[in-house]
Amino acid sequence: MIREFYQIPLRDRNSFGVEQHAARLVEFENDDDLRAVFAAGVPARWTVLGGGNNILFTADYDGLLLTPVSQEITPIEDDGMEVRLRVEAGVEWDTLVEKCVEEGLWGLENLSLIPGKAGAAPVQNIGAYGCEAGEAIRRVHYYDTATGRSETLEAARCAFGYRESIFKHALKGRAIITSIEVVLTRTPRPRLGYGDLEREVAARGGATLRNIRDAVCAIRRAKLPDPAERGNAGSFFKNPVVETAAAEALKARYPDLPRYPAAGGRVKLAAGWLIERAGLKGHREGRVGVHERQALVLVNLGGASGGEVIALARKVQQRVEEQFGIRIETEVNLL
Ligand code: EPU
Repeated sequence: MIREFYQIPLRDRNSFGVEQHAARLVEFENDDDLRAVFAAGVPARWTVLGGGNNILFTADYDGLLLTPVSQEITPIEDDGMEVRLRVEAGVEWDTLVEKCVEEGLWGLENLSLIPGKAGAAPVQNIGAYGCEAGEAIRRVHYYDTATGRSETLEAARCAFGYRESIFKHALKGRAIITSIEVVLTRTPRPRLGYGDLEREVAARGGATLRNIRDAVCAIRRAKLPDPAERGNAGSFFKNPVVETAAAEALKARYPDLPRYPAAGGRVKLAAGWLIERAGLKGHREGRVGVHERQALVLVNLGGASGGEVIALARKVQQRVEEQFGIRIETEVNLL
């Protein structure tokens, strides 16, 4: 079943809470719905709008937005140790994480409280506290707008990387994810290596699934603004990945520069740290600002337009580049 809207206000459909409109929006449940929507041809401009948690509408959208609303989580395999679930694209990601924790299934607990829908998780391979969704995702089911066919992609072919996947490249503007399959395990496998996590978990009495989830939620709530109170889309920028030599050169100038090993022998730097050192943490311009507890996050202080947010983002990029010679790229999808 589809539901269709025209000239629809988007304020309640994007976590930044910007006041833009879309020409048309269709809520869909499955592949057949999508087939019906595209029967008359593929419109010139369309995109998927899940929970709107990683998107910034910089202006009104003159095309078609597609929103998945299917809600099922279905067990499809259980060998006593490993469990495979099929999760429809419209399921709230954190609903899935809570269900897994409740049922004693390990794998997603570090990804607690990440806002957004399950269908969006593979696109930017959401990650936090040393884990990425791509490690648990086994398959992705999608509707291919170029052929009108339903397709399945194995995880190995999804090209998962740091906030990266094939859905941001070869399949961008083509695939609409309808469901994902995730594999969880009943064997405890706590991953506590990141930052304060180990300490927070110990303070709660040890590495149970529930304690890890509670610890991650507490750390996130302490650092990240609640979109219900202050519009935002989580990290606005990606952490830059640079060559070792560049990281070493910066380290010589800034001895406390945080550095993390990245794929291909490169080094990941902390964009939040760079922005803070550029003097912009807590910086405000009219109705937008850089969050005062996590500089990677830009916030809508109330009533801001997408244009105001992007203007601040450009300024942040410019200041970081001037000071450190590093270009930080946006993590949020700009429309
Ligand atoms: N830092 C600062 N100032 C800041 C922010 C961070 O100095 O304002 C420093 C911290 O002290 C730390 C380092 O930068 O040394 C890393 O900070 P943090 O652990 O807070 O993580 P992050 O790299 O800033 C990433 C993700 C977050 C995720 C956390 C935890 C990206 C773009 N962001 O942030 O993801 O929750 O790690 O794993 O990779 C999101 O994608 O929306 C998101 C919130």
